[in-house]
Amino acid sequence: MTRPSSAEPAPSTAPQSPPPGCPAHAGAVQLGGTGFQTDPHAAYRAMRRDHGSVVPVELPGGFPAWLVIGYRELHQVTSDGELFPRDVGLWNQWPHIPEDWPLLPMVGRPLPSIYFSAGDEHRRHVRMVGPALEGADPFEIRSHCEQLADRLIDAVCSRGTADLVADFCEPLPVLVLARLVGFPDDEGGDIAQVLKDLADGGPDAQSAHQRFGEHMARLVAAKRAEPGDDVTSRMLACPEAFTDEEYMLDLMAITAAGHLTTADWVSNSLRLMLTEDEFADSMARGRRSIGEAMNEVLWEDTPTQILAGRWAVRDTQLGGQRIRAGDMLLLGLGAANTDPLIRQNMSGTGGAASQGGNGAHLAFSHGEYRCPFPAQEIAEIIARTGIEVLLDRLPDLQLAVPVGDLVRRPSAFLRGTTSLPVRFTPVRTTGDLS
Ligand code: HEM
Repeated sequence: MTRPSSAEPAPSTAPQSPPPGCPAHAGAVQLGGTGFQTDPHAAYRAMRRDHGSVVPVELPGGFPAWLVIGYRELHQVTSDGELFPRDVGLWNQWPHIPEDWPLLPMVGRPLPSIYFSAGDEHRRHVRMVGPALEGADPFEIRSHCEQLADRLIDAVCSRGTADLVADFCEPLPVLVLARLVGFPDDEGGDIAQVLKDLADGGPDAQSAHQRFGEHMARLVAAKRAEPGDDVTSRMLACPEAFTDEEYMLDLMAITAAGHLTTADWVSNSLRLMLTEDEFADSMARGRRSIGEAMNEVLWEDTPTQILAGRWAVRDTQLGGQRIRAGDMLLLGLGAANTDPLIRQNMSGTGGAASQGGNGAHLAFSHGEYRCPFPAQEIAEIIARTGIEVLLDRLPDLQLAVPVGDLVRRPSAFLRGTTSLPVRFTPVRTTGDLS
């Protein structure tokens, strides 16, 4: 199981000819290019103007899909798991997709995993994974997070400079997740490296995927022999029968789904706090402004901008477009959050949806395939605790480059920053202080 990689290489195969009569090829929008990185909301506005709430788009290689950017339409699609299941096996483009299609790891193939199964089979996995995640004690997650955040800050705090993305935002969630699923700390570093290689999508991605599976297979064997207080042991204790492959794939899904998303939530929130005037006094206002920045990010700058997806079971209509059986619908989570139709209706907030902790955003998606609620809570604890510890330890953090030099991930699907260089007054490590 692999989630979107941050790098989407140019397709190595010549574009296939589009299937005859395909609606997505009439004025379809190319899903890529720098516009999505620099100012996705401008791209969404143009699409809304030209196509409405459901946009015909073209994926690399010329493959058609629909990008759902209306809040109402996205709510409709994600609420109707019968008509629009997350069942990639239904895709009507499979006969045209080459083996080396660069988006294949992101779109996925039918697999016995929570992330790539649908209907009853998916519900069976949810019955195992949901309670296993729910069993994680929030106080313990917080304590792991404080310890690991301190460790990461100790590695840079005497230098006075750091790249917050590489040194903090990216490693923190994966190290916490590795502990929660039950890895000993000395394997956490390798899991972090594996996920980095996977996300980079470079030549090491293939072997990283294999190492990832091997780590999980060893973990399942170890926890079967000696259960502990961790997600894997709770999954194994589920009374329903699962194969070792299913445990392994679900553990990969949990870790991979939570890693970059949470990292980007942390880095986008820190970026906002370091660059926007209204958060400029964030250090002085302390913890309250952390929650505000985090909620603002889920509305305006959400980590999962676009997600593949849902597939139509039969011919239907959506947002005035004719959808055919087997068409792919991409979930435009970032676009739907800023749909003017709902923002105008948010009376009393001047259209600023995040104010007052409004949680009606679609950052975690919606419906039966959404990010599980306990996973959302885990992400929240990791992000909030990480930022709190960072600001407690390095209270005079400042961006070390002009804001215009910050570069977004080269992806229409994921919204993050490739690096966040900062400077601060050097401080002592926690070891020096004790
Ligand atoms: C800011 C952080 C996060 C964001 C934005 C996020 C977002 C999402 C989204 C958009 C989906 C797909 C929903 C769909 O297809 O409709 C998803 C699924 C999932 N996420 Fe998260 N996620 C985050 C953190 C996490 C964490 C920390 C974990 C693990 C502890 C996690 C575990 C999962 C799992 C297992 C699924 C598959 C659910 C299913 O198929 O039933 N996520 N997440």
